Amino acid sequence: MKERRVYKVIVYIIIGVCLFSFASCNKKKSKKFLIGVSQCSEDVWREKLMREMKTAEYFNDDIEIVCKSTDNNNKVQVAQIDSLVDMNVDLLIVSPNQQDITPVIDKVYDSGIPVILFDRKTSSDKYTAFIGGDNYIIGKSMAQFIATQLGGKGKVAEISGLQGSSPAIDRHRGFEDEMKKHPGITIVDQKWSNWEEDGGMEAMYEILERHQDIDYVFVQNDRMANGVSEVINEKGLKGKIKITGVDGLATKNGGMEQVKKGNFIATYIYPTEGGRVIELAYKILNHEEFDREVPFTSSIVTKKNADILYMQAVDAMNQSENLQKLHGKVDVYMNQLNSQRIGLYMTIIIIIIVLLIMVMTLGMRIFVNRQKMQKERARMKDKQLKFFTNVSHQIRTPLTLIVDPIRHIAERGYLKDKDLDTLKATHKNASELMKLVENILDFKDAEFDEAGNRIDNQGMVDDYNAAKMMQQMAEENSEEEVEDDGRNVILIVDDNADIRSYVKSIFSDKYRVLTAHHGKEGLKIAREKVPDVIISDIMMPEMDGLEMTRQIKKDMSICHIPVILLTAKSQQEQIVQGYASGADEYLTKPFNSKVIVAKVDNMMQNKERMQHRLWEIYTQQLNAHDAPVESFKQEVMPVADMPSEKNEDDNQNVTHISSKDEAFLEKLNEFIEQNLGDSNVNVESMGAEVGLSRVQLYRKVKALTGMSPVELLRKARLAHAKRMLETSDMSISEVCYNVGFSAPSYFTKCYKEEYGVTPSSK
Ligand code: FRU
Repeated sequence: MKERRVYKVIVYIIIGVCLFSFASCNKKKSKKFLIGVSQCSEDVWREKLMREMKTAEYFNDDIEIVCKSTDNNNKVQVAQIDSLVDMNVDLLIVSPNQQDITPVIDKVYDSGIPVILFDRKTSSDKYTAFIGGDNYIIGKSMAQFIATQLGGKGKVAEISGLQGSSPAIDRHRGFEDEMKKHPGITIVDQKWSNWEEDGGMEAMYEILERHQDIDYVFVQNDRMANGVSEVINEKGLKGKIKITGVDGLATKNGGMEQVKKGNFIATYIYPTEGGRVIELAYKILNHEEFDREVPFTSSIVTKKNADILYMQAVDAMNQSENLQKLHGKVDVYMNQLNSQRIGLYMTIIIIIIVLLIMVMTLGMRIFVNRQKMQKERARMKDKQLKFFTNVSHQIRTPLTLIVDPIRHIAERGYLKDKDLDTLKATHKNASELMKLVENILDFKDAEFDEAGNRIDNQGMVDDYNAAKMMQQMAEENSEEEVEDDGRNVILIVDDNADIRSYVKSIFSDKYRVLTAHHGKEGLKIAREKVPDVIISDIMMPEMDGLEMTRQIKKDMSICHIPVILLTAKSQQEQIVQGYASGADEYLTKPFNSKVIVAKVDNMMQNKERMQHRLWEIYTQQLNAHDAPVESFKQEVMPVADMPSEKNEDDNQNVTHISSKDEAFLEKLNEFIEQNLGDSNVNVESMGAEVGLSRVQLYRKVKALTGMSPVELLRKARLAHAKRMLETSDMSISEVCYNVGFSAPSYFTKCYKEEYGVTPSSK
């Protein structure tokens, strides 16, 4: 979980750094003003204008110019203006082809977009500002110049620009107004054209068709004037009809060159001033103060000043071109710089990522190592603890064999004074040592697990088992078979020879003691000898005490034998397990021999009490005429086959009989009742009926009732005979054979022994 969180944080940092870096790279592209430019035509004059505007764009980082131009076409220009509006331009600069497109420009203005008209005007007042040459003055100036040249007398013609475009209208008005002041000069002809060379030619042809004696032609721009010049040359009228133009560009075949060559007498500089147009737009966009009408002033170019003006214009153009080149280079450098900057950021990011990965890997390694070390430490600690626990368990048994015998000797009273004091001190110290061992076990008991110990300390357990085997071989030689002497029999099952011999010594005065080294052997001896009590350890090789108890309590022939588990396992859970296996008592080591002797004595007394009571009941039943066998159930307290838990002082004086034993006795009794008259019935057939061998039946019946099976059968036969003699007219011999006796004399003998009288004395 912790690792995943660390990874997440690192990924977030990397993403953050990347985003920050890209944001920094693109910072340049912050919000800019978008300026739309709509040009009415595409020619050298407008190219110059656009170059100047673009140059101005370079100087203002926060503007961007988008330009559209048409070829003297109103329809196309209207569509282009609409598309610029769709692009969300912040300001529109427009040079309207003709005044016919006024409505679309009004609409833009009404929508709130500032509109700058330059060079040409609309027919309405809906514009933010106008910037451009004063065309009326241009017309007027050229009229003055011609009038002066003609000395106030002569004939002139005028070729105007596109009809409906404001410069053409204004230039014509200025020309006419001025010429009115010179009555000696007649305007013999005037033609509207289209601002282009072919238009100029066409117009001149038409004029020459009507008038050959013209002194001057006022052509409203230089491109049309070039066409006029060609026609005049063609007609051989060069020098006779003089030409003036407007625009005065210093380009090839431009107005200045034509003046210098003498093709035009004069031209008028019509300034483009793209820089100033953008400057005005910038002011409007930034809500700065501006003049609504910005007229350009200019001058006439004649042979006199053409050279100098040409040089100045070329110089200006070169500078502009240089500026363009410079800007191009700056663009390249900026792009390079930008790529280098991106490269630098990427490098930094990669370095950061690599560093983070390194730190992360190192951190992970430290974390994993620490986890491993902690696990290893915990494992070692656990192993140590298990070792201590196991050793403590091993110490406990010999200690038991020290503490209890010492107490035993001291209590017997043979020792006096100093010797007794010494023994008491020894007992005290041994008891202290026992307490210390108990403390160690208490500390670990919660985690102690028999299986775990055996696995983890297998080596030690193996050593221990080997030593015990050796011990058992010294011991087996010393253990002698004790003859059946009629005393109650105790079977001691323990893999520890010392414990076996010590427990044996406790009981050997009163009981006949049998021993077994493990559960398997214990079970075998229990089946063969059917002891009266079994005392067993739990942890043993081959078969442990719990399994042996389970097997005993499952076996009909020996399930009645009380089992006492005597063990070092003192946890609640272990005690519960012990009782669950079917054990009748659970005593923990170290034990007090007095307690265990008292327990066993009690069990024997209980057994005798039960035998006595059962016998009483049985006798009563036999003597009763209706013989209700079910009364076993009412008279004795049956207990479950596998009691789950008991207390130490659990009903010590109550007679117990398991439901299994109860069923066993019922079945046996039923068999006897039904086969009373059969003289062939014997112990074998009785055993076969309940599934036991002759010996097993004998031991079992004897243990439960205190009588042998034969005695039970005889008692039942006699009781039945007694009832028959009392209730029928049958002879003694008849009754004798009827209850399975084969000889009347033997019957009479037995009857007298049982009832104290002969069968004949009713
Ligand atoms: C350029 C031009 C110039 C002329 C001006 C009038 O497109 O035709 O030659 O002076 O427009 O608007």
